[in-house]
Amino acid sequence: MPTNAADDDILFTPFQAGELTLPNRIVLAPLTRSRAGQPGNVPTALNAEYYAQRAGAGLIIAEATNISEIGTGYALTPGIYTDAQVAGWRLVTDAVHAAGGRIVLQLWHCGRMSHESLHPGRPPVAPSEGLCNSCQVFLVDEHGRGGRSPVSPPKAMTTAEIRDTIADYATAARSAMAAGFDGVEVHSANGYLLHQFLASNTNRRDDEYGGDVQGRTRLLFEVMDAVLGEVPAARVGIRLAPLFGQNDIADANPAETFGHVSDHLDGLGIAYLHVADTDVMAGAAPKMEQMLDFTRGRFGGAVMLNGAYDPERARAAVNNGDGDIVAFGRLYLANPDLPERIRRGGPYNEPNPATFYGGGAEGYTDYPSLEV
Ligand SMILES: Cc1cc2nc3c(=O)[nH]c(=O)nc-3n(C[C@H](O)[C@H](O)[C@H](O)COP(=O)(O)O)c2cc1C
Repeated sequence: MPTNAADDDILFTPFQAGELTLPNRIVLAPLTRSRAGQPGNVPTALNAEYYAQRAGAGLIIAEATNISEIGTGYALTPGIYTDAQVAGWRLVTDAVHAAGGRIVLQLWHCGRMSHESLHPGRPPVAPSEGLCNSCQVFLVDEHGRGGRSPVSPPKAMTTAEIRDTIADYATAARSAMAAGFDGVEVHSANGYLLHQFLASNTNRRDDEYGGDVQGRTRLLFEVMDAVLGEVPAARVGIRLAPLFGQNDIADANPAETFGHVSDHLDGLGIAYLHVADTDVMAGAAPKMEQMLDFTRGRFGGAVMLNGAYDPERARAAVNNGDGDIVAFGRLYLANPDLPERIRRGGPYNEPNPATFYGGGAEGYTDYPSLEV
């Protein structure tokens, strides 16, 4: 087998993230693929095959997964709040473990990024009222055809609904461990519920969950406490996207907000902080250096980097200490054997955006691996 210069490649050195032992620094980024089994948004054998194909990763972060029906914002996305979903995820975790991999589950509540048809009779919930005119989610029509649609107007959460949501995170975290995951990642990025509470323009509450940075970060911190009540801290990660500028998220002072969040996370003993530069997907120039000032600079634990990393940039970022591990999204989506391809210096399959969301095996489990 050709090995080229990988023997001294830092991406192939092991890394310990809390209790997660990674044999390499290459992570599968969380990727929604909208292929959960219906009815019930239940993971299937096809989903298990997709993840097992990628078990060569140092760590797999499974796609964003709904902690509750009301937290669901996109069609055909899996949940972790019914017994059938837990059993479906067990197929996935067993397949990944049998293939020698490690997998954590990304816990998701979409908040206002949602449509009422996904939870009939109940509007999406958000920190505050106000329709996001530019926000769209993935829905399917009565013929099963998928596409982007505008979101529905949200209602502002009551204090009781906030308490229920925190309890839903705890239940979901417990269920993830029951389903055989090695840990969980709290999704506090990309303009979803927890990010909507953090950002000053989307959180206009005047109770203890809004206002100044203490108020706007309160829900996230209470969610972290709830999750840490169910899963050892050293198996919990969190994803932040501090300079995310889409879906009408515009924090007046991200350095203050995310500096405060990073200070708090520093005291929790979690497995890793995942810093995502998601705007690169919309063609923006990388903003990672700026974000690391008020995240990595304030957080002493393991840092995962993501956003338009190719192997060369990833290697440089780990070598220069920007981060410890690197998550690859689109590149890993299209290359099930990504670590082996990096080891050999390529070549790489190109991702096909037309098959990102919805459908079956095409564009999902049929990207070829290299011949061994
Ligand atoms: C098809 C697709 C689905 C995604 N789903 C998620 C998701 O479920 N959770 C999440 O945090 N980010 C999600 N993202 C963002 C990716 O994790 C990642 O941040 C983004 O692709 C940029 O990294 P890359 O340049 O390596 O692709 C998704 C991206 C793509 C392309």
